Parts: sequence; structure tokens; C-alpha cells
Amino acid sequence: MFVSFDLSVIPNKNIVLAVTGGIAAYKSAILVRRLKDAGFNVRVVMTEGAQAFITPLTFQALSGNPVHTELLNPEAEAGMGHIELARWADLLLVAPASCDTLAKFAAGLADDLLSTLYLATKSPVWVAPAMNQQMWAAKATQRNLNTLVEDGVHVIMPDAGSQACGDVGLGRMPEPEDLALQVTQYFHRAQRAIAEKFGLLAGKHVVVTAGPTREAIDPVRYISNHSTGKMGFALAAACYAAGAKVTLIAGPVSLDTPNGVRRLNVSSAVQMLDLSMQMLDEGCDIFIATAAVADYRVAEVAEHKIKKAGDELNVSLIKNPDIVATIAGQQKRPFMVGFAAETRNVEEYAAGKLVAKKLDMIACNDVSRADIGFASDENAMIVFFAEQYQLQKRDLEKAPKQEIAQQLVEAIHDALHHEIEPV
Ligand code: C5P
Repeated sequence: MFVSFDLSVIPNKNIVLAVTGGIAAYKSAILVRRLKDAGFNVRVVMTEGAQAFITPLTFQALSGNPVHTELLNPEAEAGMGHIELARWADLLLVAPASCDTLAKFAAGLADDLLSTLYLATKSPVWVAPAMNQQMWAAKATQRNLNTLVEDGVHVIMPDAGSQACGDVGLGRMPEPEDLALQVTQYFHRAQRAIAEKFGLLAGKHVVVTAGPTREAIDPVRYISNHSTGKMGFALAAACYAAGAKVTLIAGPVSLDTPNGVRRLNVSSAVQMLDLSMQMLDEGCDIFIATAAVADYRVAEVAEHKIKKAGDELNVSLIKNPDIVATIAGQQKRPFMVGFAAETRNVEEYAAGKLVAKKLDMIACNDVSRADIGFASDENAMIVFFAEQYQLQKRDLEKAPKQEIAQQLVEAIHDALHHEIEPV
């Protein structure tokens, strides 16, 4: 059964950064930058106190989003109201968190935007208290912090050191780089826990094209190629084993459908493209094009069987659509994986196709090698990633296609999580 839950990767995680009144608010401006650098979407909420230290405009410019300051501003509520903001957040990070804010949270007050948001969100809440060391040590502050910890809030402990007020002691907000790293690591751990429990591609819908296409000449003849579909079928099985929902769009092949996989049979390239486009409407996260699509189809398919006549027969061919490139060219596109089978200059041609077809990843093999490729049960591949992933190319040593498929699933998973540094 397909387990449906959100497993979006770090680039699509939403952070509501709440800035409260305190001199450390200036550090929050840099924190927004660091969070954006790590790929997060950031929306900033400011309390009235915060606005005495730094302007909303600064945060608007840095976050690229309007800043939320009021609870009952009809204009703001018409855009993203406090309840929507509460739902939007994958994490509510309060930095710096003032004594007053901690007290409000602990008491359950709801008299401004931030305190209301705190009560309304289901997301984890992190607070980074920053205050004078005496205020930090005050019994009421410590009591409130204990209450918050009991309520499930994560408290980022302040650093010790010299303070803006001239005191020395505990109460400094950690540096923005450190906070951003802690947040990134948190999402990475959460992601890894889900992957370990449900599989590397849990929650994803993967569409795989496989096999050859068949381009009719007349009702009894066609143009095709030697593709057996083994690699695509092995990948469909590996994606399903990794927790994905899998749709396999298969050209004519004589292979059994892998367990748990939805198989849709097609014959021609045009049919394969039509179904692939339908999958985009259904919602597709990863598109893997293993099909050996015929480059050309017959311009005019004869209605009746062509009769033998003369020594020559000319059939005019026209170009087929490039399925993978068409899908990659869509505005809302899945993660795109292509394949390249070459007989020479393998790496050079594959890297060229990666760019030309706007793919995220390409796996290529040398089909001139007799021991791997088309009909073989084994394969060896080199994987290239698009430039933005900053991942090294990978050599997948000769192995059964099932094993290669498993390694490709790992490569896809790694690329999807490229922004996160391993913890
Ligand atoms: O250009 P070439 O056929 O070598 O590209 C191979 C890659 O492009 C494979 O991933 C293949 O499935 C895909 N492709 C496609 N539609 C085509 C031709 C190739 O999706 N018409």
C-alpha cells in the first residue's frame, strides 16, 4: 500500500522566523540569509518590540516575503492570515526570544500575532532566548523555560560572554551560522528517520518509462529496437521497494510486472508521451526515462498491408517527440532521470544529453561492450548529476541490473537531498 505523507526535501521546507525585542535582533537578519542559503523558504514575524531594533523592510528584502507584524490587520489576513501562517510553517523558530515572549508562551496568552501563532501551529517550536544574564537567571524566566520544555518546545541554550549591556554571563543568542546549522541538521535527521522507516523514496510517485516503442508501418509491420525493458522493470521494482508509488509505462516487452507496480502498456512513442503527460497531472515527483524510444516514426501509416512491388520500397519517417525532454521542459517538472546508451565517447555524449535535455541526472552505459547493456542481465553505468547538485559523478561497477537499480535509487535519493550536509 502507498503510504501518503509529506516527504519533501529541505529546499521545500518552510520556516517561520519570529523576531522579538532584543538587541540580538540584528543577528536575525543574517540568520535569514543563512536559512535561505540552506534552501529554506523563510517568512518573518516581528513583534512590536522587535521593530524598535530593526525594520520589517530589512527582513522583507532578505526573506523575499512580506513581513508579518499584526494579528488583526485585514490586509495581511487577506494574504496569509495567522492560521495559514501557522499551517505553512514546518518549524517556528523564535530568535531572539525575549523574556516577555517566553512568559507569554508559558502562560498561553494570545494577544498578538506571535503568541497566537504559537498556539495555532502544529509545527515544532524552537526558541533561542537572548537577554541580560540577570534576566536569564531570574526565577520566573527559568520557571517559564521549564514549562516550555514540558510543553515540547525546543530551547536553544544561549551562549555565555560579554553582553551589549556591559554584563558578562549567559544570555547571548548563538551566532546565525550555528543556528542555521542546527536547523538544517534537524531536518536532515528527520528526513533520515523517515527514510530508514519507510524507504529512501517513501511518499514519492515515481514514473518509469521502459522497453522499446513500436512504430507502425502498416497494420502488420513496425519499426522497433532490441530493448528488453529489463533495466526499467528492475528500477520500477527498486523504487517500489524503496517505498515509492510506482507507475511503469511499458512499451511492448515480455516481462512480468514487478510486485506493487502499476503498469500501463503502450506501443508507440506518441502514446508513451501522452501517458507521461497525464502522469504530470496526477502528480509525479520523479520521472525515470529508461525507454528506448524510436527516434522516428512512419510519416503516413498505411491503412492496409503494403503489397510487395518493385525492388525498392521507400518509407518516409518523421521525428518522434523527445519524451524526457518534453517532460523536463514543463514548468512544474519532476526530478528527471535519463539514460544514455552509447557505443563511443560515452561520457562526453551522456554529459551533453544531461544539459541538452535539462535532466537532473543521467545514467549512461557503453552498449558496445558485449557483456552488458540491452539484453544482458548485468549492467555497468556512470552517473552524472546536473551542476547544481554539486555531487561527483558515480561509477556503478558491473553488477546484476537489480543491484544497479538499487544504486540508482540511492543516487536519486542523494541528489534529492543534496543541499543537506551529512550530520
Ligand atoms: O537521445 P537519446 O535517445 O540517446 O536519449 C536517451 C534518453 O532520452 C533516455 O532516457 C530515453 O528514455 C530518453 N528519450 C525519450 N524520448 C525520445 C528519445 C529518448 O524520452 N524520443
